[in-house]
Amino acid sequence: MNTLTAQAYAKINLTLDVFSKRADGYHSLASVMQAISLHDTLTISLRDEAGILFTCDGEQSAGIPNDASNLVVRAAQSVLDVAHGEMGLKIHLHKRIPSQAGLGGGSSDAAATLLGVTALTGFDIGPKTLHDLAAALGSDVPFFLTGGTAVARGRGENISPIADAPSLWLVIVKPEESVSTGWAYDQLDSVVERASHRATKRMEEALKSGDLERLIAWQSNDFELPVFAHFPRLAWLHDELRMAGALTAHLCGSGSAVYGVFAGEEAANKVGGLLQSKYPQVYVARTLSRVASNPLGEFGA
Ligand code: C5P
Repeated sequence: MNTLTAQAYAKINLTLDVFSKRADGYHSLASVMQAISLHDTLTISLRDEAGILFTCDGEQSAGIPNDASNLVVRAAQSVLDVAHGEMGLKIHLHKRIPSQAGLGGGSSDAAATLLGVTALTGFDIGPKTLHDLAAALGSDVPFFLTGGTAVARGRGENISPIADAPSLWLVIVKPEESVSTGWAYDQLDSVVERASHRATKRMEEALKSGDLERLIAWQSNDFELPVFAHFPRLAWLHDELRMAGALTAHLCGSGSAVYGVFAGEEAANKVGGLLQSKYPQVYVARTLSRVASNPLGEFGA
């Protein structure tokens, strides 16, 4: 096999509890992370000459660096480095997931690249090294090696897979505003007497008991307070989704995209269609099981 296709699925955080800032500058957190159907597509090929050739297209490709600073290139290079691989790679990224939206697009691309390059080259680097490479690329990257529904702790890199959450239909709106993750954490620190929602434990219990009502009610995100205060239009977008019939609505990760949960596919499509006339970036998506969110599909299962 000389070419492989990998799907890099986005995520939302069903809960996102942010605790204190650690000595290394990162924050301790707890989160129930959930893979969703919105995805980028990577095409990875072996080539005769050494080096990594990277190209990118798609509706969200503007502003994506195509040099060695790109997380995809760094992920591919890190596999070649640990495996002392001499071969060259050609990688094409079709970008659909908006950046600076809190949907984990860059992190998911990196994880799909780690899995794709190891599968294509046959390098058996083992799960521990794979996890370490992922964590070195970014706090969110290890989640995407696991996908489905999982609890993240530490700075986000300690992943415990849990049983697939019941399927949810989502409308995701990425407004004009963009939020950088580092900035969002700084904003949290500047909120005096901030208290975390500490919702992750409760959400884990709701998921265990299969209680759909609590799965909806206990979604929360600690970034909402500072991010909505700084970008009132995002708070309005949240309210707009609720008024359109969303069962609940929350910020995606550290923002700026906001998701609403809808009762089914029909309701999500209807509201998605209505919001498209007002916002250029509206996505109807659904949550995915661990098997369905495997970047390599049945090939990697
Ligand atoms: O790990 P990653 O490179 O994605 O993190 C981006 C930035 O977000 C970090 O430089 C840090 O400022 C912040 N961060 C944090 N605590 C975390 C994860 C990220 O403060 N748990």
